[in-house]
Amino acid sequence: MEKNEVQKLNCLSENLEVSPKEMNLLFRFCRNIFKTKNPDEMIEAASRAGLKKTLGAFDLIILGVGAIIGSGIFTVVGIAAAGSAESTGAGPALVISMVLASLACVFSAMCYSEFASMIPVAGSAYLYTYATMGEFLAWIVGWVLMLEYLVGYIAVASAWTGYFMQFLQGFSKYLPDFIVNPPVWIVHDYGTASSILIQSGQNPALEIPHFFGIPFALNLPGVLMTLIIMLILIKGIKESTKMAGVLVIIKLTVIALFLITGAFYVRPENWTPFAPNGFKGIFMGAFIIFFAYIGFDAIATAAEETKNPQKNLPKGIIGSLAVCTVIYVLVALVLCGISPISEIDLHAPIAHAISSVGQDWVAGLISIGALTGLTSVLMVLMLAATRILYAMSRDGFLPQILQTIHKKYKTPYAITIMTAIICILGSAFLNISTAAELCNFGTFTSFIIVCVAVLILRKKEPERKRPYKVPFSPWFPLFGIICCLGLMIYSMQFLHTSRFLFPLWIILGMLFYFAYGYKNLRKSDEK
Ligand code: ALA
Repeated sequence: MEKNEVQKLNCLSENLEVSPKEMNLLFRFCRNIFKTKNPDEMIEAASRAGLKKTLGAFDLIILGVGAIIGSGIFTVVGIAAAGSAESTGAGPALVISMVLASLACVFSAMCYSEFASMIPVAGSAYLYTYATMGEFLAWIVGWVLMLEYLVGYIAVASAWTGYFMQFLQGFSKYLPDFIVNPPVWIVHDYGTASSILIQSGQNPALEIPHFFGIPFALNLPGVLMTLIIMLILIKGIKESTKMAGVLVIIKLTVIALFLITGAFYVRPENWTPFAPNGFKGIFMGAFIIFFAYIGFDAIATAAEETKNPQKNLPKGIIGSLAVCTVIYVLVALVLCGISPISEIDLHAPIAHAISSVGQDWVAGLISIGALTGLTSVLMVLMLAATRILYAMSRDGFLPQILQTIHKKYKTPYAITIMTAIICILGSAFLNISTAAELCNFGTFTSFIIVCVAVLILRKKEPERKRPYKVPFSPWFPLFGIICCLGLMIYSMQFLHTSRFLFPLWIILGMLFYFAYGYKNLRKSDEK
Protein backbone atom coordinates (compact mmCIF):
# COMPACT_ATOMS: atom_id res chain seq x y z
CA MET A 1 0.00 0.00 0.00
CA GLU A 2 1.35 3.45 -0.78
CA LYS A 3 2.41 5.85 2.00
CA ASN A 4 -0.32 8.43 1.44
CA GLU A 5 -2.93 5.62 1.29
CA VAL A 6 -1.74 4.43 4.74
CA GLN A 7 -2.02 7.97 6.09
CA LYS A 8 -5.52 8.36 4.69
CA LEU A 9 -6.55 5.04 6.24
CA ASN A 10 -5.13 5.97 9.64
CA CYS A 11 -6.98 9.24 9.53
CA LEU A 12 -10.23 7.51 8.51
CA SER A 13 -9.88 4.87 11.23
CA GLU A 14 -9.50 7.62 13.84
CA ASN A 15 -12.63 9.36 12.60
CA LEU A 16 -14.63 6.14 12.51
CA GLU A 17 -13.20 4.94 15.82
CA VAL A 18 -11.99 1.59 14.52
CA SER A 19 -8.47 0.28 14.92
CA PRO A 20 -6.02 0.80 12.00
CA LYS A 21 -5.77 -3.01 11.71
CA GLU A 22 -9.54 -3.35 11.26
CA MET A 23 -9.50 -0.45 8.82
CA ASN A 24 -6.73 -2.09 6.86
CA LEU A 25 -8.68 -5.35 6.71
CA LEU A 26 -11.78 -3.51 5.50
CA PHE A 27 -9.74 -1.69 2.88
CA ARG A 28 -8.23 -4.93 1.60
CA PHE A 29 -11.65 -6.57 1.56
CA CYS A 30 -13.14 -3.76 -0.55
CA ARG A 31 -10.14 -3.73 -2.86
CA ASN A 32 -10.48 -7.48 -3.35
CA ILE A 33 -14.18 -7.56 -4.11
CA PHE A 34 -13.81 -4.75 -6.65
CA LYS A 35 -10.68 -6.26 -8.21
CA THR A 36 -11.12 -6.29 -11.98
CA LYS A 37 -9.59 -8.42 -14.73
CA ASN A 38 -7.71 -6.57 -17.43
CA PRO A 39 -9.55 -6.79 -20.81
CA ASP A 40 -6.20 -6.87 -22.65
CA GLU A 41 -5.16 -9.94 -20.66
CA MET A 42 -8.45 -11.63 -21.55
CA ILE A 43 -7.92 -10.89 -25.25
CA GLU A 44 -4.34 -12.11 -25.03
CA ALA A 45 -5.42 -15.36 -23.31
CA ALA A 46 -8.12 -15.88 -25.93
CA SER A 47 -5.67 -15.40 -28.79
CA ARG A 48 -3.40 -18.02 -27.19
CA ALA A 49 -6.34 -20.46 -27.18
CA GLY A 50 -6.11 -20.19 -30.98
CA LEU A 51 -9.70 -21.10 -31.88
CA LYS A 52 -10.37 -21.15 -35.61
CA LYS A 53 -12.18 -18.04 -36.85
CA THR A 54 -14.81 -19.30 -39.25
CA LEU A 55 -18.10 -17.52 -38.50
CA GLY A 56 -19.43 -14.61 -40.55
CA ALA A 57 -22.43 -12.33 -39.87
CA PHE A 58 -24.89 -14.71 -41.58
CA ASP A 59 -23.60 -17.71 -39.59
CA LEU A 60 -24.05 -15.70 -36.41
CA ILE A 61 -27.64 -14.79 -37.32
CA ILE A 62 -28.35 -18.50 -37.90
CA LEU A 63 -26.71 -19.35 -34.58
CA GLY A 64 -28.72 -16.62 -32.85
CA VAL A 65 -32.07 -17.65 -34.34
CA GLY A 66 -31.18 -21.25 -33.38
CA ALA A 67 -30.64 -20.24 -29.76
CA ILE A 68 -33.57 -17.80 -29.52
CA ILE A 69 -36.56 -19.56 -31.12
CA GLY A 70 -37.79 -22.27 -28.79
CA SER A 71 -40.33 -22.78 -26.05
CA GLY A 72 -41.00 -19.05 -25.85
CA ILE A 73 -42.85 -18.97 -29.14
CA PHE A 74 -43.98 -22.62 -29.11
CA THR A 75 -45.35 -22.65 -25.52
CA VAL A 76 -44.86 -19.58 -23.29
CA VAL A 77 -46.72 -17.47 -25.88
CA GLY A 78 -49.93 -19.15 -24.64
CA ILE A 79 -49.32 -17.99 -21.06
CA ALA A 80 -48.40 -14.46 -22.25
CA ALA A 81 -51.65 -14.22 -24.24
CA ALA A 82 -54.10 -16.00 -21.93
CA GLY A 83 -52.43 -15.58 -18.50
CA SER A 84 -51.68 -18.10 -15.76
CA ALA A 85 -52.49 -18.49 -12.07
CA GLU A 86 -50.19 -15.55 -11.18
CA SER A 87 -49.90 -13.46 -14.34
CA THR A 88 -52.47 -11.63 -16.39
CA GLY A 89 -52.67 -12.30 -20.13
CA ALA A 90 -52.23 -9.57 -22.75
CA GLY A 91 -54.89 -10.96 -25.10
CA PRO A 92 -54.43 -9.94 -28.78
CA ALA A 93 -52.41 -6.95 -27.49
CA LEU A 94 -49.64 -9.51 -27.18
CA VAL A 95 -48.18 -7.93 -30.34
CA ILE A 96 -47.53 -4.76 -28.33
CA SER A 97 -46.04 -6.81 -25.47
CA MET A 98 -43.72 -8.41 -28.00
CA VAL A 99 -42.51 -5.09 -29.34
CA LEU A 100 -41.96 -3.83 -25.75
CA ALA A 101 -39.95 -6.95 -24.84
CA SER A 102 -37.89 -6.64 -28.00
CA LEU A 103 -37.15 -2.96 -27.18
CA ALA A 104 -35.76 -4.02 -23.79
CA CYS A 105 -33.59 -6.51 -25.67
CA VAL A 106 -32.44 -4.16 -28.46
CA PHE A 107 -30.83 -1.60 -26.11
CA SER A 108 -29.13 -4.41 -24.16
CA ALA A 109 -28.13 -6.13 -27.42
CA MET A 110 -26.31 -2.95 -28.49
CA CYS A 111 -24.44 -2.91 -25.18
CA TYR A 112 -23.54 -6.59 -25.65
CA SER A 113 -22.33 -5.71 -29.15
CA GLU A 114 -20.09 -2.91 -27.87
CA PHE A 115 -18.45 -5.30 -25.42
CA ALA A 116 -18.32 -8.26 -27.77
CA SER A 117 -16.57 -6.19 -30.47
CA MET A 118 -14.19 -4.61 -27.94
CA ILE A 119 -13.38 -7.74 -25.91
CA PRO A 120 -14.08 -10.61 -28.33
CA VAL A 121 -13.62 -13.47 -25.87
CA ALA A 122 -15.92 -16.29 -24.78
CA GLY A 123 -17.52 -15.74 -21.35
CA SER A 124 -20.01 -13.02 -22.19
CA ALA A 125 -21.66 -10.96 -19.41
CA TYR A 126 -19.67 -12.72 -16.69
CA LEU A 127 -16.35 -11.53 -18.13
CA TYR A 128 -17.60 -8.07 -19.11
CA THR A 129 -18.54 -7.55 -15.47
CA TYR A 130 -15.20 -8.90 -14.28
CA ALA A 131 -13.49 -6.34 -16.51
CA THR A 132 -15.46 -3.38 -15.20
CA MET A 133 -17.02 -3.94 -11.80
CA GLY A 134 -14.82 -6.50 -10.12
CA GLU A 135 -15.00 -10.04 -8.87
CA PHE A 136 -18.00 -9.83 -6.54
CA LEU A 137 -20.39 -8.52 -9.18
CA ALA A 138 -18.86 -10.89 -11.76
CA TRP A 139 -19.76 -13.75 -9.43
CA ILE A 140 -23.30 -12.41 -8.99
CA VAL A 141 -23.68 -12.16 -12.79
CA GLY A 142 -22.39 -15.74 -13.18
CA TRP A 143 -24.83 -16.81 -10.47
CA VAL A 144 -27.84 -15.10 -12.14
CA LEU A 145 -26.75 -16.50 -15.51
CA MET A 146 -27.43 -19.89 -13.93
CA LEU A 147 -31.04 -18.76 -13.59
CA GLU A 148 -31.02 -17.88 -17.27
CA TYR A 149 -29.46 -21.13 -18.42
CA LEU A 150 -30.39 -23.78 -15.82
CA VAL A 151 -33.85 -22.59 -14.81
CA GLY A 152 -34.49 -21.62 -18.44
CA TYR A 153 -33.57 -25.20 -19.27
CA ILE A 154 -36.25 -26.46 -16.84
CA ALA A 155 -38.88 -24.28 -18.57
CA VAL A 156 -37.86 -25.51 -22.02
CA ALA A 157 -37.83 -29.15 -20.81
CA SER A 158 -41.38 -28.72 -19.59
CA ALA A 159 -42.43 -27.29 -22.97
CA TRP A 160 -40.62 -30.16 -24.69
CA THR A 161 -42.77 -32.66 -22.77
CA GLY A 162 -45.95 -30.77 -23.75
CA TYR A 163 -45.10 -31.13 -27.45
CA PHE A 164 -43.87 -34.71 -26.98
CA MET A 165 -47.23 -35.74 -25.48
CA GLN A 166 -49.04 -33.91 -28.27
CA PHE A 167 -46.85 -35.82 -30.76
CA LEU A 168 -47.69 -39.17 -29.11
CA GLN A 169 -51.41 -38.34 -29.37
CA GLY A 170 -50.96 -38.60 -33.13
CA PHE A 171 -50.14 -42.30 -32.67
CA SER A 172 -52.99 -43.08 -30.27
CA LYS A 173 -54.29 -45.81 -32.59
CA TYR A 174 -51.01 -47.72 -32.45
CA LEU A 175 -49.66 -47.09 -28.96
CA PRO A 176 -51.00 -48.46 -25.64
CA ASP A 177 -53.16 -46.02 -23.69
CA PHE A 178 -50.77 -45.81 -20.71
CA ILE A 179 -48.14 -44.27 -23.02
CA VAL A 180 -50.45 -41.87 -24.83
CA ASN A 181 -52.38 -40.86 -21.70
CA PRO A 182 -50.03 -41.47 -18.75
CA PRO A 183 -50.92 -40.38 -15.20
CA VAL A 184 -50.33 -36.62 -14.87
CA TRP A 185 -47.71 -37.05 -12.12
CA ILE A 186 -45.39 -38.83 -14.61
CA VAL A 187 -45.32 -35.95 -17.10
CA HIS A 188 -45.58 -32.84 -14.89
CA ASP A 189 -44.05 -31.22 -11.83
CA TYR A 190 -46.04 -31.57 -8.61
CA GLY A 191 -47.75 -28.15 -8.81
CA THR A 192 -48.92 -28.56 -12.39
CA ALA A 193 -50.07 -32.16 -11.80
CA SER A 194 -52.12 -31.03 -8.76
CA SER A 195 -53.81 -28.18 -10.59
CA ILE A 196 -54.69 -30.41 -13.58
CA LEU A 197 -56.23 -32.98 -11.20
CA ILE A 198 -58.17 -30.32 -9.29
CA GLN A 199 -59.49 -28.86 -12.56
CA SER A 200 -60.77 -32.28 -13.59
CA GLY A 201 -62.49 -32.72 -10.20
CA GLN A 202 -60.00 -35.26 -8.80
CA ASN A 203 -58.20 -35.23 -5.47
CA PRO A 204 -54.38 -34.79 -5.87
CA ALA A 205 -53.77 -36.37 -2.44
CA LEU A 206 -55.33 -39.60 -3.71
CA GLU A 207 -54.03 -39.58 -7.29
CA ILE A 208 -50.38 -38.55 -6.75
CA PRO A 209 -48.28 -41.30 -5.08
CA HIS A 210 -46.48 -40.56 -1.80
CA PHE A 211 -43.13 -41.94 -0.65
CA PHE A 212 -42.48 -41.58 3.07
CA GLY A 213 -45.29 -39.03 3.18
CA ILE A 214 -43.75 -36.89 0.41
CA PRO A 215 -45.76 -36.54 -2.82
CA PHE A 216 -43.87 -37.69 -5.89
CA ALA A 217 -44.25 -36.17 -9.36
CA LEU A 218 -41.76 -35.60 -12.17
CA ASN A 219 -41.51 -34.71 -15.82
CA LEU A 220 -40.26 -38.15 -16.89
CA PRO A 221 -39.93 -37.51 -20.66
CA GLY A 222 -37.98 -34.33 -19.80
CA VAL A 223 -35.76 -36.28 -17.40
CA LEU A 224 -34.97 -38.91 -20.06
CA MET A 225 -34.22 -36.16 -22.58
CA THR A 226 -31.92 -34.47 -20.06
CA LEU A 227 -29.99 -37.72 -19.59
CA ILE A 228 -29.61 -38.08 -23.37
CA ILE A 229 -28.40 -34.48 -23.73
CA MET A 230 -26.00 -34.99 -20.84
CA LEU A 231 -24.48 -38.03 -22.57
CA ILE A 232 -24.20 -36.19 -25.89
CA LEU A 233 -22.49 -33.23 -24.22
CA ILE A 234 -20.09 -35.53 -22.35
CA LYS A 235 -19.22 -37.30 -25.56
CA GLY A 236 -18.53 -33.91 -27.09
CA ILE A 237 -20.78 -32.21 -29.54
CA LYS A 238 -19.19 -30.62 -32.56
CA GLU A 239 -21.24 -27.43 -32.66
CA SER A 240 -21.21 -26.86 -36.36
CA THR A 241 -23.20 -24.06 -37.91
CA LYS A 242 -24.21 -26.64 -40.52
CA MET A 243 -26.14 -28.60 -37.89
CA ALA A 244 -27.52 -25.39 -36.35
CA GLY A 245 -28.51 -24.34 -39.88
CA VAL A 246 -30.54 -27.52 -40.46
CA LEU A 247 -32.34 -27.14 -37.13
CA VAL A 248 -33.09 -23.47 -37.83
CA ILE A 249 -34.52 -24.36 -41.25
CA ILE A 250 -36.82 -26.99 -39.68
CA LYS A 251 -38.00 -24.52 -37.03
CA LEU A 252 -38.60 -21.72 -39.51
CA THR A 253 -40.38 -24.07 -41.92
CA VAL A 254 -42.93 -25.21 -39.33
CA ILE A 255 -43.49 -21.64 -38.19
CA ALA A 256 -44.02 -20.58 -41.83
CA LEU A 257 -46.44 -23.50 -42.22
CA PHE A 258 -48.37 -22.30 -39.16
CA LEU A 259 -48.48 -18.71 -40.46
CA ILE A 260 -49.56 -19.62 -43.99
CA THR A 261 -52.16 -22.25 -43.00
CA GLY A 262 -53.35 -20.27 -39.99
CA ALA A 263 -53.80 -17.06 -42.02
CA PHE A 264 -56.80 -18.70 -43.78
CA TYR A 265 -58.55 -19.30 -40.44
CA VAL A 266 -57.97 -15.89 -38.85
CA ARG A 267 -61.23 -14.32 -37.75
CA PRO A 268 -60.66 -10.59 -37.08
CA GLU A 269 -63.43 -10.60 -34.46
CA ASN A 270 -61.07 -12.70 -32.28
CA TRP A 271 -58.78 -9.63 -32.10
CA THR A 272 -61.40 -7.75 -30.11
CA PRO A 273 -61.33 -6.81 -27.32
CA PHE A 274 -57.75 -6.00 -28.24
CA ALA A 275 -56.42 -5.53 -24.73
CA PRO A 276 -58.88 -7.26 -22.38
CA ASN A 277 -56.66 -6.66 -19.33
CA GLY A 278 -55.44 -3.17 -20.25
CA PHE A 279 -51.89 -2.02 -19.49
CA LYS A 280 -51.48 -4.61 -16.75
CA GLY A 281 -51.98 -7.40 -19.29
CA ILE A 282 -49.66 -5.74 -21.83
CA PHE A 283 -46.82 -5.23 -19.32
CA MET A 284 -47.18 -8.69 -17.79
CA GLY A 285 -47.32 -10.14 -21.31
CA ALA A 286 -44.09 -8.27 -22.15
CA PHE A 287 -42.43 -9.61 -19.01
CA ILE A 288 -43.45 -13.21 -19.77
CA ILE A 289 -42.75 -13.17 -23.53
CA PHE A 290 -39.30 -11.68 -22.88
CA PHE A 291 -38.39 -15.34 -22.34
CA ALA A 292 -38.84 -15.94 -26.07
CA TYR A 293 -36.04 -13.46 -26.88
CA ILE A 294 -33.47 -14.92 -24.52
CA GLY A 295 -30.54 -16.48 -26.32
CA PHE A 296 -29.11 -13.68 -28.48
CA ASP A 297 -26.50 -13.12 -25.77
CA ALA A 298 -25.24 -16.65 -26.53
CA ILE A 299 -23.86 -15.24 -29.81
CA ALA A 300 -21.34 -13.23 -27.81
CA THR A 301 -19.90 -16.51 -26.52
CA ALA A 302 -18.86 -17.36 -30.10
CA ALA A 303 -16.72 -14.21 -30.25
CA GLU A 304 -13.42 -16.07 -30.42
CA GLU A 305 -14.55 -18.06 -33.46
CA THR A 306 -15.84 -15.06 -35.44
CA LYS A 307 -14.15 -13.57 -38.49
CA ASN A 308 -13.79 -9.81 -38.17
CA PRO A 309 -15.72 -9.87 -34.84
CA GLN A 310 -15.74 -6.09 -34.57
CA LYS A 311 -18.15 -5.85 -37.51
CA ASN A 312 -19.85 -9.24 -37.57
CA LEU A 313 -20.80 -9.61 -33.89
CA PRO A 314 -23.05 -6.52 -33.76
CA LYS A 315 -24.61 -7.53 -37.09
CA GLY A 316 -25.23 -11.07 -35.80
CA ILE A 317 -26.67 -9.98 -32.44
CA ILE A 318 -28.93 -7.20 -33.70
CA GLY A 319 -29.83 -9.07 -36.93
CA SER A 320 -31.06 -12.23 -35.17
CA LEU A 321 -33.10 -10.13 -32.76
CA ALA A 322 -34.74 -8.27 -35.66
CA VAL A 323 -35.58 -11.53 -37.52
CA CYS A 324 -37.13 -13.05 -34.38
CA THR A 325 -39.18 -9.94 -33.56
CA VAL A 326 -40.82 -9.98 -37.02
CA ILE A 327 -41.57 -13.73 -36.75
CA TYR A 328 -42.97 -13.40 -33.21
CA VAL A 329 -45.30 -10.51 -34.06
CA LEU A 330 -46.72 -12.50 -36.99
CA VAL A 331 -47.21 -15.61 -34.82
CA ALA A 332 -49.03 -13.55 -32.16
CA LEU A 333 -51.36 -12.04 -34.78
CA VAL A 334 -52.24 -15.42 -36.29
CA LEU A 335 -52.53 -17.30 -32.96
CA CYS A 336 -54.87 -14.72 -31.42
CA GLY A 337 -56.75 -14.48 -34.72
CA ILE A 338 -57.47 -18.23 -34.90
CA SER A 339 -58.45 -18.94 -31.29
CA PRO A 340 -60.50 -16.87 -28.88
CA ILE A 341 -58.17 -16.09 -25.95
CA SER A 342 -60.16 -18.34 -23.59
CA GLU A 343 -59.46 -21.35 -25.83
CA ILE A 344 -55.69 -20.95 -26.10
CA ASP A 345 -53.94 -24.09 -24.84
CA LEU A 346 -51.14 -23.49 -22.33
CA HIS A 347 -49.02 -26.58 -23.10
CA ALA A 348 -48.80 -26.64 -26.91
CA PRO A 349 -50.70 -23.49 -28.03
CA ILE A 350 -49.51 -23.30 -31.64
CA ALA A 351 -50.15 -26.96 -32.49
CA HIS A 352 -53.43 -26.95 -30.56
CA ALA A 353 -54.70 -23.81 -32.32
CA ILE A 354 -54.09 -25.20 -35.80
CA SER A 355 -55.55 -28.57 -34.83
CA SER A 356 -58.69 -26.79 -33.51
CA VAL A 357 -59.44 -25.61 -37.07
CA GLY A 358 -59.21 -29.17 -38.37
CA GLN A 359 -55.63 -29.07 -39.71
CA ASP A 360 -54.37 -32.05 -37.72
CA TRP A 361 -51.60 -32.87 -40.19
CA VAL A 362 -50.17 -29.35 -39.83
CA ALA A 363 -50.41 -29.72 -36.04
CA GLY A 364 -48.47 -33.01 -36.31
CA LEU A 365 -45.72 -31.37 -38.37
CA ILE A 366 -45.59 -28.41 -35.97
CA SER A 367 -45.15 -30.79 -33.03
CA ILE A 368 -42.23 -32.50 -34.79
CA GLY A 369 -40.66 -29.14 -35.71
CA ALA A 370 -41.19 -27.82 -32.18
CA LEU A 371 -39.59 -30.94 -30.69
CA THR A 372 -36.54 -30.51 -32.94
CA GLY A 373 -36.32 -26.79 -32.17
CA LEU A 374 -36.74 -27.27 -28.44
CA THR A 375 -34.11 -30.04 -28.39
CA SER A 376 -31.56 -27.69 -29.95
CA VAL A 377 -32.40 -24.95 -27.42
CA LEU A 378 -32.05 -27.48 -24.57
CA MET A 379 -28.63 -28.43 -25.87
CA VAL A 380 -27.45 -24.82 -26.22
CA LEU A 381 -28.73 -23.93 -22.72
CA MET A 382 -27.04 -26.87 -21.01
CA LEU A 383 -23.85 -26.31 -22.98
CA ALA A 384 -23.81 -22.60 -22.05
CA ALA A 385 -24.45 -23.41 -18.37
CA THR A 386 -21.61 -25.93 -18.23
CA ARG A 387 -19.14 -23.59 -19.98
CA ILE A 388 -19.91 -20.63 -17.71
CA LEU A 389 -19.68 -22.83 -14.60
CA TYR A 390 -16.40 -24.16 -15.96
CA ALA A 391 -15.01 -20.64 -16.45
CA MET A 392 -16.13 -19.70 -12.93
CA SER A 393 -14.47 -22.73 -11.41
CA ARG A 394 -11.28 -22.01 -13.42
CA ASP A 395 -11.32 -18.50 -11.95
CA GLY A 396 -11.50 -20.01 -8.45
CA PHE A 397 -15.16 -19.26 -7.62
CA LEU A 398 -16.19 -22.92 -7.52
CA PRO A 399 -14.44 -26.11 -6.34
CA GLN A 400 -11.64 -27.31 -8.60
CA ILE A 401 -13.14 -30.79 -8.89
CA LEU A 402 -15.66 -29.30 -11.29
CA GLN A 403 -12.87 -28.75 -13.80
CA THR A 404 -12.32 -32.50 -14.17
CA ILE A 405 -12.02 -33.30 -17.85
CA HIS A 406 -13.06 -36.66 -19.30
CA LYS A 407 -9.93 -38.64 -20.22
CA LYS A 408 -11.26 -39.92 -23.51
CA TYR A 409 -13.69 -37.26 -24.71
CA LYS A 410 -11.86 -34.20 -23.28
CA THR A 411 -15.08 -32.56 -22.09
CA PRO A 412 -15.83 -31.15 -18.59
CA TYR A 413 -17.89 -34.18 -17.58
CA ALA A 414 -18.08 -33.58 -13.80
CA ILE A 415 -19.74 -30.22 -14.35
CA THR A 416 -22.02 -31.66 -17.06
CA ILE A 417 -23.28 -34.41 -14.73
CA MET A 418 -23.82 -31.91 -11.90
CA THR A 419 -25.72 -29.59 -14.25
CA ALA A 420 -27.97 -32.44 -15.45
CA ILE A 421 -28.76 -33.48 -11.85
CA ILE A 422 -29.72 -29.90 -10.94
CA CYS A 423 -31.99 -29.70 -14.00
CA ILE A 424 -33.67 -33.02 -13.16
CA LEU A 425 -34.27 -32.09 -9.51
CA GLY A 426 -35.46 -28.62 -10.45
CA SER A 427 -37.96 -29.96 -12.97
CA ALA A 428 -39.76 -31.88 -10.18
CA PHE A 429 -40.50 -28.62 -8.33
CA LEU A 430 -40.75 -25.80 -10.84
CA ASN A 431 -43.62 -25.39 -13.24
CA ILE A 432 -43.06 -23.81 -16.65
CA SER A 433 -44.32 -20.34 -15.78
CA THR A 434 -42.37 -20.02 -12.51
CA ALA A 435 -39.23 -21.34 -14.26
CA ALA A 436 -39.67 -18.90 -17.18
CA GLU A 437 -40.29 -15.99 -14.76
CA LEU A 438 -37.17 -16.80 -12.73
CA CYS A 439 -35.17 -17.15 -15.93
CA ASN A 440 -36.43 -13.71 -16.99
CA PHE A 441 -35.45 -12.12 -13.66
CA GLY A 442 -31.95 -13.57 -14.03
CA THR A 443 -31.59 -12.38 -17.62
CA PHE A 444 -32.98 -8.89 -16.91
CA THR A 445 -30.42 -8.55 -14.10
CA SER A 446 -27.52 -9.57 -16.34
CA PHE A 447 -28.74 -7.20 -19.10
CA ILE A 448 -28.93 -4.32 -16.63
CA ILE A 449 -25.41 -5.02 -15.40
CA VAL A 450 -24.06 -5.16 -18.98
CA CYS A 451 -25.69 -1.76 -19.76
CA VAL A 452 -24.14 -0.30 -16.58
CA ALA A 453 -20.79 -1.88 -17.48
CA VAL A 454 -20.77 -0.13 -20.86
CA LEU A 455 -21.24 3.24 -19.14
CA ILE A 456 -18.52 2.47 -16.58
CA LEU A 457 -15.95 1.42 -19.20
CA ARG A 458 -16.70 4.49 -21.33
CA LYS A 459 -15.81 6.62 -18.29
CA LYS A 460 -12.87 4.49 -17.10
CA GLU A 461 -11.21 3.87 -20.45
CA PRO A 462 -12.59 6.43 -22.92
CA GLU A 463 -9.62 5.95 -25.26
CA ARG A 464 -10.03 2.14 -25.62
CA LYS A 465 -10.72 1.19 -29.23
CA ARG A 466 -14.44 0.53 -29.75
CA PRO A 467 -15.09 -0.90 -33.23
CA TYR A 468 -18.82 -0.79 -32.46
CA LYS A 469 -20.22 1.93 -30.22
CA VAL A 470 -23.75 2.03 -28.79
CA PRO A 471 -25.27 5.06 -30.50
CA PHE A 472 -26.60 7.94 -28.40
CA SER A 473 -24.75 6.85 -25.28
CA PRO A 474 -25.48 7.34 -22.37
CA TRP A 475 -29.15 7.44 -23.45
CA PHE A 476 -29.44 4.02 -25.13
CA PRO A 477 -27.74 2.11 -22.28
CA LEU A 478 -29.95 4.08 -19.86
CA PHE A 479 -33.07 3.14 -21.86
CA GLY A 480 -31.94 -0.50 -21.65
CA ILE A 481 -31.63 -0.21 -17.86
CA ILE A 482 -35.01 1.56 -17.55
CA CYS A 483 -36.88 -0.97 -19.78
CA CYS A 484 -35.42 -4.04 -18.02
CA LEU A 485 -35.73 -2.61 -14.50
CA GLY A 486 -39.21 -1.25 -15.22
CA LEU A 487 -40.56 -4.61 -16.44
CA MET A 488 -38.91 -6.41 -13.52
CA ILE A 489 -40.26 -4.10 -10.83
CA TYR A 490 -43.73 -3.89 -12.38
CA SER A 491 -44.14 -7.65 -12.64
CA MET A 492 -42.82 -8.26 -9.11
CA GLN A 493 -46.06 -6.82 -7.72
CA PHE A 494 -48.04 -9.72 -9.13
CA LEU A 495 -45.75 -12.76 -9.33
CA HIS A 496 -45.93 -14.21 -5.85
CA THR A 497 -43.73 -17.29 -6.19
CA SER A 498 -40.88 -16.01 -8.37
CA ARG A 499 -40.62 -12.61 -6.66
CA PHE A 500 -39.86 -14.54 -3.49
CA LEU A 501 -37.53 -17.11 -5.09
CA PHE A 502 -35.44 -14.56 -7.03
CA PRO A 503 -34.10 -12.60 -4.01
CA LEU A 504 -33.60 -15.93 -2.24
CA TRP A 505 -31.37 -17.04 -5.13
CA ILE A 506 -29.33 -13.81 -4.93
CA ILE A 507 -28.91 -14.18 -1.14
CA LEU A 508 -27.78 -17.80 -1.61
CA GLY A 509 -25.27 -16.60 -4.21
CA MET A 510 -23.86 -13.97 -1.81
CA LEU A 511 -23.58 -16.53 1.00
CA PHE A 512 -21.75 -18.92 -1.30
CA TYR A 513 -19.35 -16.19 -2.43
CA PHE A 514 -18.44 -15.07 1.08
CA ALA A 515 -18.32 -18.60 2.52
CA TYR A 516 -16.31 -20.12 -0.32
CA GLY A 517 -15.45 -18.07 -3.43
CA TYR A 518 -13.88 -15.08 -1.67
CA LYS A 519 -11.55 -17.23 0.46
CA ASN A 520 -10.72 -19.61 -2.35
CA LEU A 521 -9.79 -16.77 -4.69
CA ARG A 522 -7.41 -15.33 -2.10
CA LYS A 523 -5.84 -18.79 -1.74
CA SER A 524 -5.23 -19.02 -5.48
CA ASP A 525 -3.83 -15.43 -5.42
CA GLU A 526 -1.31 -16.49 -2.76
CA LYS A 527 -0.11 -19.48 -4.82
N1 ALA B 1 -35.64 -18.06 -26.12
C1 ALA B 1 -35.53 -19.42 -25.70
C2 ALA B 1 -36.80 -20.13 -25.89
O1 ALA B 1 -37.76 -19.48 -26.25
C3 ALA B 1 -35.09 -19.52 -24.27
O2 ALA B 1 -36.88 -21.32 -25.67
